[in-house]
Amino acid sequence: MNVAIVGGGLMGREIAAAIQRWPALIDHPVRPRLTAVCDINPAALEWFRDIDTVTGLVTDYRGLLADDSIDVVYVAVRHDLHEQLYVDVINSGKSLLAEKPFGIDGSAADAILAASAEHPESFVRCSSEMPFYPGAQWAIDYVKSGALGTIIEARCGFLHSSDIDPAKPINWKRQVEYCGEAGVMNDLGMHTWHVPLRLGWAPTSVSAVLQNIVPERPGPDGTSVPCDTWDNAVLQCWSREGDHVFPLTTETKRIAPGEKNTWFFEAIGVEGGVRFSTKSPKEVEVFSRISVPGIGTEQAWQRLDAGSQSVWPTVTGGIFETGFSDAILQMWAAFLAEREGVLGDRFGCVTPDEAALTHRIFDAALRSQATGASVTP
Ligand SMILES: NC(=O)c1ccc[n+]([C@@H]2O[C@H](COP(=O)([O-])OP(=O)(O)OC[C@H]3O[C@@H](n4cnc5c(N)ncnc54)[C@H](O)[C@@H]3O)[C@@H](O)[C@H]2O)c1
Repeated sequence: MNVAIVGGGLMGREIAAAIQRWPALIDHPVRPRLTAVCDINPAALEWFRDIDTVTGLVTDYRGLLADDSIDVVYVAVRHDLHEQLYVDVINSGKSLLAEKPFGIDGSAADAILAASAEHPESFVRCSSEMPFYPGAQWAIDYVKSGALGTIIEARCGFLHSSDIDPAKPINWKRQVEYCGEAGVMNDLGMHTWHVPLRLGWAPTSVSAVLQNIVPERPGPDGTSVPCDTWDNAVLQCWSREGDHVFPLTTETKRIAPGEKNTWFFEAIGVEGGVRFSTKSPKEVEVFSRISVPGIGTEQAWQRLDAGSQSVWPTVTGGIFETGFSDAILQMWAAFLAEREGVLGDRFGCVTPDEAALTHRIFDAALRSQATGASVTP
């Protein structure tokens, strides 16, 4: 299967590296080869020259879409470019692994969704790799088992401190024009909603607390320019499982002191509870009532190491540990297995419907921030 990448920046290079690690997967039905990369900046293409399967380095993606040898396209570009590029890939009939936030806003996501509905031959999913950590998979399976009992509350978050320095120059990710009005929610929100939405916990209401902590940053010539995106967003939601409603909180923060790519998920019920954070990537915490000899029943949080195995088996020893690049490889393994129809009941990438729903949630959050009210997505 031949893969092309459009956008050879931070994520384009990460995905190219993941595809080179494909032999780590055991008995995967697909063997992808990265054959072409497109970036409007020729300098960004240089890094890809060392990958010997890459035969095409181009600056206009339309040539790639006309190339019959390419089956799958991964697109990692600015948010304001998503709608046009994703729709063009889908219309070409090739499969698409899109990047979050799947369009700059809800109307862009709807246009991508409409193109996808018209071209079912184009298999479309959206990127969100953090739930592919083995500890996250453990937590998801635990929740799906019903072990929580009646749910008390759940939380999912994604934290960075990359913008803590007010002297850090502006970039496209910090400007509404390119990132989108939802700001940090567009940047990090897909990561926090993938698992809750997959568990069926779409929110019925959203109350938002959004902060623009650094409103100006140095521009290209050093003078201050507006930094008009939301830096931090906490959404306090009501969600539902069956007839039972419970609070679900998501946190997306660009300014969370000390944090570097910390994704966490926590779900607590009256019978059981589970916590996982990439801050301690090996460890899962599990709550239960235990019987202690000579004492009786106690409430206990216990810790276990999740090991290395995630959605698709790998040659890595089960007692070893995992990291970001492993999660990326697992996400691609799930994407290509699902495209082949062999994912089964394993955890898959974000669907177009789920991605579009995140925009309705972010839009509700913006309205909640503006009015101070709790808003229905
Ligand atoms: N899944 C994740 O963990 C994760 C992490 C970071 C970024 N992202 C997402 O990935 C996307 C890209 O982010 P990034 O950090 O890689 O950005 P980046 O700025 O590092 O790279 C974007 C690249 O796209 C190129 N480009 C711009 N217009 C183009 C066009 N028309 N055709 C081809 N190339 C073009 C730019 O020259 C640049 O090299 C965004 O949607 C972002 O939200 C995802």
